[in-house]
Amino acid sequence: PPLDPFSVPMPVPQVLRPSYRTSKLDQYVLDIQPANVEIFPGFKTAALTYGGTFVGPTILATEGRAIQIKYRNRLKEDANVHLHGGHNPASSDGHPMDVIPAGGSKVYTYPNRQPGATLWYHDHVHHLEAEHVFRGLHGFYLLKGYDEARLNLPSGEYDVPIMLRYGKFDEDGQILFSPYDDVSTRTTFLVNGRPQPYFKVAARRYRFRLLNASNHGDFKVNLGGREMVQIASDGGLLPAPVSRKEVLITPGERAEVVVDFSDVPVGSSVVLESEWGPVMRFDVDRRGFDTGGPPAVLRPNPTLPKPTVEREIRMQLSDDQQVFWINGKPFDPDRVDVRIKRGTTEVWRIYNDDSDWGIDHNFHLHMVRFRVLDRDGAPPWPGESGLKDTVSVPPGTSVRVQATFGEHLGRFVYHCHMMEHSGPFQMMAQMEIVQ
Ligand code: C2O
Ligand code: CU
Repeated sequence: PPLDPFSVPMPVPQVLRPSYRTSKLDQYVLDIQPANVEIFPGFKTAALTYGGTFVGPTILATEGRAIQIKYRNRLKEDANVHLHGGHNPASSDGHPMDVIPAGGSKVYTYPNRQPGATLWYHDHVHHLEAEHVFRGLHGFYLLKGYDEARLNLPSGEYDVPIMLRYGKFDEDGQILFSPYDDVSTRTTFLVNGRPQPYFKVAARRYRFRLLNASNHGDFKVNLGGREMVQIASDGGLLPAPVSRKEVLITPGERAEVVVDFSDVPVGSSVVLESEWGPVMRFDVDRRGFDTGGPPAVLRPNPTLPKPTVEREIRMQLSDDQQVFWINGKPFDPDRVDVRIKRGTTEVWRIYNDDSDWGIDHNFHLHMVRFRVLDRDGAPPWPGESGLKDTVSVPPGTSVRVQATFGEHLGRFVYHCHMMEHSGPFQMMAQMEIVQ
């Protein structure tokens, strides 16, 4: 339904409460369920949800303290949950073949033995993931690091997760899904599940955790020239803050920025824009006060061990144009594409060979975080200085990344995070970490 921009408030997803806490871990129950949700005012939209809300509840975790979640599938079809960016055992990863059947349930354990970061969870059932995520199976998982308290970053109500994505709706506000859609055709910007909302802020600094949860389509956002100080990416805090005027976030990626509204007069607004138009508006409605900006040093990168293996990953449309290939093959769950000895450090050079078609891809690895070494020999982009799990690979270019494949044994996937590419069009492959 047609709606003027900035006519609905941006909600902040509610935090999921543990059902039980022991001295060692927090236990949660989360239902995967259909729900009628309000996206457009006055319309009920049939969605697929975690916990009944179109952006699922936020799960708050602390470095070093484990979480167990019992996911109960109340849908009439298979579902599952992948914790994107999580360093988790294969049995709790949400591998595309590890489904929770209709009516069934599964308990996943997240040890949270990794640096603090903005993670997110989403459906990953092979062939259904694109549609499931598009219909609402996505939420935040915020892992707080040991090292964050001393950094004087905006916290509490001034630390806000913001899920950006595209959606498509009919006149009655019902979700229209097609794996062939283009982002430019009748799409709606959804921010935490509402179309082009406004958000009331105080005249002070905020920490915004931006996530692009779109099936495909980038968000290249700016604040009309206002500075955004990027402090973190997928894997958490950067070594040092980076001043940005524009931030590109491809599907699956996260960028955390500190924005200072202290010079904005109460009663004025700042618009977050993308190349396709206004995304949301920050309305400064009260005075605020804070105690200074981020420090010059955030989280030093761990030293890069010497790689022992180099690999080439080539992403391209198949010759018959029916699927997308990684190294000449569509996904086959029974095939292991690479075997990696646990603890080994490898360099992967990832090519997007679709320059003829001009098709964008990006690349996501489960279980590990990587460093971006270079882009066709040139330095990585700003904001790529820390640890990442998803990286943009524009057509006709290549990116070299380095990762250490630690701790967990078993099978994990890697894929383009344009959900239609990895799901229906099978642009996915499998690694097995072996002893
Ligand atoms: Cu965000 Cu394999 O996924
Ligand atoms: Cu792709």
